Amino acid sequence: MATLFLAGGSGFIGSEFVRHAVAAGHSVQALCRTQRSAAAVRALGAQPVMGDLLEAGAWQAQAAQAEIVLHFAQPQTFGGRVGKARALRYETDRQKMDRNLLSPLRGSAVRRIVYVSGTSYYGQQDLPPKDETAKPNPRGWGPYIVKAMQQLETFCAEGLPILTVFPSSVYGAGSWYGDILASLKAGKTQLTLARRDPTLATVHVEDCARAILHLMEHGAIGERYIICDDRPPKYSEILAESAKALDVPLKTRAVPLWLGRIIAGPVVTDAYDAHLSNARLRSTGFRLQFPTIEQGIPNVVQRWLAAQATRKE
Ligand SMILES: NC(=O)c1ccc[n+]([C@@H]2O[C@H](COP(=O)([O-])OP(=O)(O)OC[C@H]3O[C@@H](n4cnc5c(N)ncnc54)[C@H](OP(=O)(O)O)[C@@H]3O)[C@@H](O)[C@H]2O)c1
Repeated sequence: MATLFLAGGSGFIGSEFVRHAVAAGHSVQALCRTQRSAAAVRALGAQPVMGDLLEAGAWQAQAAQAEIVLHFAQPQTFGGRVGKARALRYETDRQKMDRNLLSPLRGSAVRRIVYVSGTSYYGQQDLPPKDETAKPNPRGWGPYIVKAMQQLETFCAEGLPILTVFPSSVYGAGSWYGDILASLKAGKTQLTLARRDPTLATVHVEDCARAILHLMEHGAIGERYIICDDRPPKYSEILAESAKALDVPLKTRAVPLWLGRIIAGPVVTDAYDAHLSNARLRSTGFRLQFPTIEQGIPNVVQRWLAAQATRKE
């Protein structure tokens, strides 16, 4: 069992990862910038380490003492309108956060570093499904992580033992998908884009966390791994499956792209088809518990409803 240092352990994917890593017997330290996050990771069985990735601090020496470092942290992406200024701030902050975490690991005894990126970096990919060797065609948030990926390449070239994982659209009882469930449950009309029904590569948050834990141990250093379901659904299928699982009627309104850009901003409305393959992940021996949204969405909806009921008590 290893000593793990996590950045982003209080986040949507990170907290699910902490749960699985602690259950597997690892000793987990999680960087936290607020007491609220510290309480959350402590409740999951991790030890909080106070610090902010945007600032140098004593936490950096602590990260360098771990056996394995995992980087889940990012400036917030969901909620509210995402305009160009917010996306550009994300771009520069993400690079600074990466530098503050990775630079002190040079020459340390850390034997593995798992860097969490995202499939928006691969962006638009047509059929047949593409793997990690595909030429990136960044879309959505993708263009704003390109510079971080270039910077990461320089850390890899310096010999840091990095492997990079690319989760697809991760659905669970929080983050962007939690917002969709709350909106559907409240009976709100779902906005879609006229004449565009993008294919999203998806993955259940539990499968995503389990895959990252598996790759942390069985992935190859220097390699990239896409984490996605066996079959990527259309956005309309996600809405329909979610409404069915919630047992609510689905009301949609298709808006033209120009109007979508005004309402949600250009980053979120940059709809693209992500036909991606999980063949490399499967070749490492990993098996998904929820290989399609038909299996995963009813499970997430049950979890989300249970969490809502607990909140009301
Ligand atoms: N969610 C998805 O669908 C999805 C899909 C593909 C890829 N990804 C990638 O997966 C990774 C994790 O995503 P997520 O959705 O789990 O993110 P998230 O829920 O937004 O969590 C972000 C985490 O980063 C931490 N953080 C942010 N700024 C920080 C700072 N300055 N110092 C220290 N910690 C800071 C947050 O801490 P606080 O608790 O203090 O806020 C939180 O723990 C990201 O790299 C993301 O790009 C996500």
